[in-house]
Amino acid sequence: MKLRGKVLVDDAWRAQLDAIAETRGFPASHDVADLARCVTAVSHAYNHEGHDASETVKKADALSARLSFFFVRDIAKGWGATRELAAAGLFAKPSLKVLDLGAGIGAMTWGLAHALAEHSPASRSIDAVLCDADAEALAIAKAVAEERASVGDVKVAIRTDRQLAPFSPSLAGAPFDVVIAGQLLSELDRDLEPADRVKKHVRLVRSWLDALEPDGALVLVEPALRDRTRHLHALRDALAETKAATIFAPCLHAAACPALVREDDWCAENRAIDLPSWLVPVARSASLRWEGSTFSYLVLRRDDVSLARMAASHGVRFRAVSDAIVTKGKSEIFLCGVMPSNEGESVGRVRVTRLDRHETPENQAWNEIARGDLVATTPPPKLRDGRPGEARIDADTRVEPIAITRERKTT
Ligand SMILES: C[S@@+](CC[C@H](N)C(=O)[O-])C[C@H]1O[C@@H](n2cnc3c(N)ncnc32)[C@H](O)[C@@H]1O
Repeated sequence: MKLRGKVLVDDAWRAQLDAIAETRGFPASHDVADLARCVTAVSHAYNHEGHDASETVKKADALSARLSFFFVRDIAKGWGATRELAAAGLFAKPSLKVLDLGAGIGAMTWGLAHALAEHSPASRSIDAVLCDADAEALAIAKAVAEERASVGDVKVAIRTDRQLAPFSPSLAGAPFDVVIAGQLLSELDRDLEPADRVKKHVRLVRSWLDALEPDGALVLVEPALRDRTRHLHALRDALAETKAATIFAPCLHAAACPALVREDDWCAENRAIDLPSWLVPVARSASLRWEGSTFSYLVLRRDDVSLARMAASHGVRFRAVSDAIVTKGKSEIFLCGVMPSNEGESVGRVRVTRLDRHETPENQAWNEIARGDLVATTPPPKLRDGRPGEARIDADTRVEPIAITRERKTT
């Protein structure tokens, strides 16, 4: 079958995860019907109860689905949320100390390992502490690390620490170069009112930021679902307001998140990473997608290093926050970023159109833009009279991708 995106995990993962599944009496990847039954039950519990610790799902079924399906799927989310830090040369130490909160089986740590493996020079080993309330998930995480030990030439060593949120990073061995919390926030404090929950999570996130080295990064990853992602946006705004940290990614500005203006809106990634072919039949049987990796993320730093700063030499810089919407005679993309204005610079989101008849070599790169890409235009897209928030790429507008360049140390 022809898949759209690339596959991140190599085939060796299949045999390694199958070996662990078989030792525990779980269905392996070739037991498609049985595995799909477990995946369906967990997926249903996540969607209806927000977590898999549900009375409707047997613990062994939940662990089986997490090991053989969700772990593999979610490695791409950890990769997607950390790939820009790696591309920017910010993982330069030989070894990274990582704290993975709500780690489960450790998908975020392994995603980070995949991001490092793609970049050289970058750290060539990870020394991770995986914290979670679930002792059985942590035992499987340990078994995975024993089977696997590396991604390419990036070595991964894992220690587990059974802890309940809010966690004690100092007990786990702070300071860390990276603290990562994957799909954890959306499982915490679900009974609180949204505004109270944001306030509580600001305190939580601040305590995690305190566990970082001065040049460390906190990586928050959430499912791409509307409510979970909007909570992340609200948290981002509250943290930006208190100047608790620098927003490294995904935003190119620290102004209020434009996605919060409309109730039905949210800003999430959809990277072209597909499930490996051996999981496609399982996904199909469980009525889940196998193409693309969707998630939302927020990367915060204690220093002032940010994608916004790295891209600042481009007068007009955006992140594509939608897929291209292609209709007869035109293609449109929502862009969020910074443009010159009468007041100096304005930030926000614009729906930008390029008519097919205006396609030229200057703006050819428009055709290649995918959600999540960084893009510069010269001059700025032309705002449309009487249509606030809408703009046009003309035949003479130059469109170019923004390459994330390695951060040079300034003294
Ligand atoms: C959806 S899983 C995410 C696993 C992994 N981080 C990932 O992204 O693939 C959420 C994890 O958070 C853990 N968790 C939920 N509430 C927790 C709490 N109050 N304290 C510690 N861990 C918790 C669960 O046990 C589970 O392993």
